[in-house]
Amino acid sequence: MTQPEMKLAIRGLTKHYGSAMALDHVDLDLADGEFLTMLGPSGSGKSTLLWSVAGLNDSDAGKIWIDGREATSMPASARDIGMVFQNYALFPHMTVAENLSFPLEMRKVPALERALAIQRALEMVKLDHVGDRFCNQLSGGQQQRIALARAFVAGPSIVLMDEPLGALDKKLRDHLQLEIKRLHEQLNMTVLYVTHDQEEAMVMSDRICLMNQGRIEQIGTPEELYFRPKSLFAADFLGESNLIAGKVKSENGKWMTIDLPGIGVVKTLPSALLRSGPDIVHFTRPESIEILTDEQRKDNAFRGLVDEVVVSGAITKLFVRFGEAAKLQLSMLTSRSPRVRKGDAVRVGWDVDVGRLLAGRALEAA
Ligand SMILES: Nc1ncnc2c1ncn2[C@@H]1O[C@H](COP(=O)(O)OP(=O)(O)OP(=O)(O)O)[C@@H](O)[C@H]1O
Ligand SMILES: [Mg+2]
Repeated sequence: MTQPEMKLAIRGLTKHYGSAMALDHVDLDLADGEFLTMLGPSGSGKSTLLWSVAGLNDSDAGKIWIDGREATSMPASARDIGMVFQNYALFPHMTVAENLSFPLEMRKVPALERALAIQRALEMVKLDHVGDRFCNQLSGGQQQRIALARAFVAGPSIVLMDEPLGALDKKLRDHLQLEIKRLHEQLNMTVLYVTHDQEEAMVMSDRICLMNQGRIEQIGTPEELYFRPKSLFAADFLGESNLIAGKVKSENGKWMTIDLPGIGVVKTLPSALLRSGPDIVHFTRPESIEILTDEQRKDNAFRGLVDEVVVSGAITKLFVRFGEAAKLQLSMLTSRSPRVRKGDAVRVGWDVDVGRLLAGRALEAA
């Protein structure tokens, strides 16, 4: 089997540490120029996967191809990969230029070409004035930009980044997210990125690969993962959601009706999940539910009481209660003249295409 058209192809990659399974038969393809982010909770196998691609650990089973060449047992130095870690990993006793020169020397690039590549890389990260400084004379953000420059200076096939912004404060992280995105576009780099921050993954990626206990839970565009999660784990890991346990009431091929205790009977699109058992959870995103006027028509509409209004900057969250226990969360852009206040009776609703049915038990009362 070869995967020549893919920048990176992984089949059946498996890795144990003792009895713990860090990677469990992972298959993954990365297209040329793609930005793919491994997202998932701590211990889900993100770093293990990255290290396997880099050739820094031995897997137990499975194969890896880079640029169509099988790389499974290639030494790290032969893999044509650039890497950035959370903690810079620059050589502190070398100048910035010497740090950038290192991967070029490893590839036996002649001196004149090296100097040009270093200058270009420094310009790309907007630090062309610091080449002669030692790395410990730079700020954290500058050091991380140099680490980025070092990862791509030799024009590697794939750049691997393991939580490269994890040690930086939020403002700098936001700024560097956009910077990495710009570099990715300008240099047409292929990037395999790791983060456990779902917002970062959404902002940066062409596709997100959500990991759960060494397995791929779901892979797709940020929009697919966010609006069409395939499991409770995916729905719960990304963003906020209304996850309400219900029972199937009827099905007519065109839609299904689900009884959500306390709220009422909800219409949804039919789901193959029906076959998977009686435990069904209805999923909506808070921003998919609207406050309706009395005349407004939606596939699903219910009356409730506003329990709480929370203004968190640009977004306002509303919690609407139905009877004793049932609650839905709504979110909307914060307005200077809010339409609803705590205690108001409201009508809320959504169309069938924004709700989804998921198999399993709701993790907690939503
Ligand atoms: N060197 C090691 N020795 C033993 N177990 C390890 C080692 N490295 C990782 N593991 C285990 O393998 C599993 C996957 O770890 P990995 O570092 O890939 O997770 P991760 O998704 O990168 O987590 P984090 O977000 O915390 O960085 C975990 O259960 C972890 O404890
Ligand atoms: Mg990790």
